Parts: sequence; C-alpha cells; structure tokens
Amino acid sequence: MVKTMNFGNVMVLAIAVVAVSTILHTTEAAEYVVGDDLGWTVPPGGAASYASWAAKYRFVVNDILYFNFTEGEHTVALVTKENYEICNTTDPLFKLDGPSGLQFLSSDTFYFTCTFTGHCAGGQKVEVYIASSASTPSPSPVVAPPPAASLPFTFVSKKLGFRKV
Ligand SMILES: *[C@@H]1O[C@H](CO)[C@@H](O)[C@H](O)[C@H]1NC(C)=O
Ligand SMILES: *[C@@H]1O[C@H](CO)[C@@H](O)[C@H](O)[C@H]1NC(C)=O
Repeated sequence: MVKTMNFGNVMVLAIAVVAVSTILHTTEAAEYVVGDDLGWTVPPGGAASYASWAAKYRFVVNDILYFNFTEGEHTVALVTKENYEICNTTDPLFKLDGPSGLQFLSSDTFYFTCTFTGHCAGGQKVEVYIASSASTPSPSPVVAPPPAASLPFTFVSKKLGFRKV
C-alpha cells in the first residue's frame, strides 16, 4: 500500500515536472532585429536584402521581431500577399508608426512593408514565415497556452497572429 502511494506521488511529480518544463519551453522567445544591423529601412542592396536576412533564420511561434527605425522616416505595415507583391500600402491590415517588437502568436506567413512612397518598391519589404514550434519535439502532454488576457500587452490581435511588445 505504501509502495503504491509512493509510486503515485512520483508519477504526479513527474507529470508536474513535464508540464512545467513544457510551459517554460512554449514561452521561450528568441528576439531578432529585422535586417540585423541595417535595421528597417530602404536597403542599399534592394529587395533581396530582407529576403536573405529572413532566410538566415528559422522563426517560430513566440519569437519576437523588432523593427528598428526612426519614427517619421518609415512605418511597418502588415499587408496581404497580393498587396505585398504589387506594393499596395493603401489600408494595410496593421501599421506601426514607431519602432517596436512584434511577438508572433500563430504559425503563418506575414508580409511587411513600409507605407512611405517608394519604400516598398525600393525593397523595404519582408516576407516572414513563422513555424509552429521549435524543431526539437518535446514529449509533452497537451498544455493549453496561457489565456491571452493574462499576458501583459498593449496590443493583441488573435486575428492578425501577433502582439506588440
Ligand atoms: C537601432 O538602430 C540604431 C540606429 O542605427 C542603433 O544605434 C541601435 O543599436 C539599433 N538597435 C537595435 C536593437 O538594433
Ligand atoms: C490596395 O489595397 C486595398 C486594401 O486591401 C484595396 O482596397 C485596394 O483595392 C487595393 N488596390 C489595388 C490597386 O489593388
């Protein structure tokens, strides 16, 4: 009887440890500066610049992309794939007027550009794929993500799939 109870306690502890490490794992977030040292600007190298920047990394849910630029010189606009391709920045889905980080909450491809005239055509645009999880699979029980309402945020959009941080 005692042995059974000890075994039960060990099992409960083991499950708790797995659950806690899963929660810690899922909230890990890497932060990237878009364009690295170049920041968010009209790149001297043209449109290929941000494509090669994005290709260097593998972004996953919870990662943060920081758009670094001088307010008043650029914006960050989330647009549809169609509008991204033709550089249509009229009525973007979302716009940042100042530098900020965006934390991605769902796996998707996101299309960002700048609403200043000529900047998109000049190559200030980036397509970012956010994968659903890190490549190392964790043998985890299903743990619900923390409710969005408990997160400290100033902006969140489940529809857009990211929040401002
Ligand atoms: C943002 O850009 C400024 C000006 O180029 C630079 O001094 C600063 O280090 C950059 N910040 C980050 C996080 O890259
Ligand atoms: C540009 O995008 C806006 C917002 O999605 C849309 O209403 C408009 O029709 C688009 N213009 C062109 C030329 O595609």
